[in-house]
Parts: sequence; structure tokens; C-alpha cells
Amino acid sequence: MKKFLIINGPNLNFLGKREPEVYGSMSLEEIKGYTEKKIKKFSKSLEIDWFQSNLEGEIVERIQQASDQNYEALIINPAAYSHTSVAILDALKLIEYKVVEVHLSNTYNRESFRHTRLTAKSSDAIIEGLGKEVYFLGIFSQLVEEDFLDV
Ligand code: DQA
Repeated sequence: MKKFLIINGPNLNFLGKREPEVYGSMSLEEIKGYTEKKIKKFSKSLEIDWFQSNLEGEIVERIQQASDQNYEALIINPAAYSHTSVAILDALKLIEYKVVEVHLSNTYNRESFRHTRLTAKSSDAIIEGLGKEVYFLGIFSQLVEEDFLDV
């Protein structure tokens, strides 16, 4: 069984309600269902753990735990913490498997404070600006890299 971890940071629990013109109309729960259904077409034996927190320390602790867990990859949308969190940057350095940072919006099209990217310095890849598809694409990129596709 291949396991992936997806971590979502602050305010992503309000997807669907929060600035839908920027982030789309799907809730995080709906994105989860959508992503899992789509990814299983490409790899059946896949387990995905989803974690969301609005608290920096809880995200750090989940990353610390994940460093001792058997995941194939970590897909993380640190949300606003991408631009500010040295603590999450440092925690991500503990992860020995691949880390893909994702953002629903293209942060380079937006305010200049979103161009500062701290956590991305600990990521192997970044996917952004493709709305809800970034979660699917984050997982898919790792299935391709590790040759885990069923098709
Ligand atoms: C975001 C972009 C961040 O700048 C913002 O603070 C978010 C969401 C995105 O997915 O586009 O909360 O990470």
C-alpha cells in the first residue's frame, strides 16, 4: 500500500466560502473526494491521509510525526505560512521523502508579500495556479516519478 500525506494550512478549511473567485467554489472536503476519485484511476492501491490545521505548531508537529512515518511523499499547501514560517521550513527539512508544495492560486500574480516563499526552500517541487487540480497533480507527479502508475 502506497501512502501519501496531504497537509493544508490556515483558512483552507474555509475553501468554497473564502474568496471563491481566487480559490474556487469547492470545499476542502469536496476537493478531497474529487482528488481521491481521480487519482485512483491511475493507481488503485493508494492511501491518502489528509490533515488541516490553522495553527503553525500543529502543522510543525504533524510534519515531525510524518518524518517517522512511511509515506511516499508529502504534498503541502502551507497557505499563508508559506510566506512567513521558518518553523515549518525547518520541520520540512526532517522529511526524507519527496515534498511537493502546492498553491491553488498563482501567488506570483498576486500581492508582493506572497512572492516571499520560505517553506518552498524545503520542497522538491512546486505546483501552483491550477486551482483544485494542484492536489491531484502533486500526487500524480510523485506517482510518475516513482513509477507507481497502474496505467
Ligand atoms: C494559498 C496562497 C497563499 O498566499 C494564501 O495565504 C492562502 C492560499 C493558495 O493555495 O493559493 O491561504 O496557499
